[in-house]
Formats: sequence, C-alpha cells, structure tokens
Amino acid sequence: MAPVVDTPTPTFDHKKVTVIYVLGGPGAGKGTQCARLVEDFDFCHLSAGDLLRAEQNREGSQFGDLIRTCIKEGTIVPMEVTIKLLENAMTAAMKERESTGTDGWKDGRGRFLIDGFPRKMDQAVKFDETVCLSSMVIYFSTTEEVMLGRLLERGKTSGREDDNVESIKKRFRTYKSDTMPVIQYYSEQGKVAEVDSSGSIEEVHKAASKVVNDVFAIKHA
Ligand code: C5P
Ligand code: MG
Repeated sequence: MAPVVDTPTPTFDHKKVTVIYVLGGPGAGKGTQCARLVEDFDFCHLSAGDLLRAEQNREGSQFGDLIRTCIKEGTIVPMEVTIKLLENAMTAAMKERESTGTDGWKDGRGRFLIDGFPRKMDQAVKFDETVCLSSMVIYFSTTEEVMLGRLLERGKTSGREDDNVESIKKRFRTYKSDTMPVIQYYSEQGKVAEVDSSGSIEEVHKAASKVVNDVFAIKHA
C-alpha cells in the first residue's frame, strides 16, 4: 500500500481565488504595471516588498531589524515572515470586499496580483501548497541597464534605502541566483507569460492586459 502522505490544504481554493505572481528584476516595472492592472480588473495588489517595509516600521515588530538588514543587503527575508504577511493581507481583503467588491469578489471569489513574490524557490512551493495555488506568473523582462536607470531615477524621491548603486548591484545578484530559478520552475509548468517591459508604461500595460484577459478567459471557459 502506498504510504499516506500528509498534503496540506491551502487556505484559499484556487478555483475561486485567482493568484497571479508578478515577477521581474528590481526596476522592471512590477509595481507600476500592477497599479494599472488594478484599474482594469479590480485586483487586490499586494507587494511583498511594501508589506515587508510596513512590518519593518510597525512598532513592536520582532522582525524589524531582520527585514531592514535583508532589504539593505538585497537578500531574501525568511519565507515564513513574507508568507504570513501575504496570507494575512489576503484574508483581510477577502473579508473587506465580500460585501463591497465587484463580481470578481462575490461568493467567496477573489483576485490577487502578488508583486515581487515568490523571490526564491522555497517561497514558491510553500505558498502554492499552504496559501493558494497560483494560476500564473507575469514576468516583466528588460535589461539591467533599463532597470538601473529606473531605480536611480526612483531613488531621487523614493526614500528607499536600497535604491542606491551598491544595494542595486546586490539586488541584481540575488535576482539571478534566487529568483531566476523560480521563473524557470514555473516556465516548465507552462505558467509564465513573459512581457517585455522595456517600452513605455502604456505599451507594457497593453501587453500585460492581454495576458490577464487570457487567464480569465480560460478560467471562465
Ligand atoms: O520588491 P521590492 O523591490 O520592493 O523588494 C525589496 C526587498 O524586500 C528585496 O530586495 C528583499 O530584500 C525583500 N523581499 C523579500 N522577499 C520578497 C520580496 C521582497 O525578501 N518576496
Ligand atoms: Mg515594487
């Protein structure tokens, strides 16, 4: 007899809750494009980096120093922290929108753009298994030159401690070593839609919208 394997049940059912991961190097345009997709499709946009920065600044957080160090060094925060923050934010959004949301949020349904996550294989496997199986990955790709230019421009006003050349180099390194394997992993499952994000916000948005339209068309077929 086959051994009994204890597979965890995810918190959210992927048949009702659509999770789209949004990946791409630092400065690829993930946040900018997510904001535009929210307008079109009524997604809840959750940026893992934003959630980590909020937790870092939350009074009494036991993870503040850990997060601060990781962000400065461009390394990945231990997955338990990030996954918990995302799961809590998803639960809150589901609750908040069940009465006020549009059709995409009725009857236990929901739709999330999870931006800057999963940045490392362990996060990918754990989230899919325990929180919600992802439907697809939008992968914004462009050159390091373009990304560097955008990050330095943003750094003039962002106040972010990692928008400087030294941190940016480290972030590029982590991206290649830890995040590219995640893109490869989902690519092998046929779940990745690559969108060239070198162009204008409008051009990239057009391509990204098409990808999302196709996902919902398949889901509702
Ligand atoms: O996506 P963003 O550029 O805002 O992320 C900033 C930093 O937050 C990353 O460089 C990394 O240190 C941390 N982070 C993480 N795990 C994620 C997303 C972000 O550790 N999934
Ligand atoms: Mg961002």
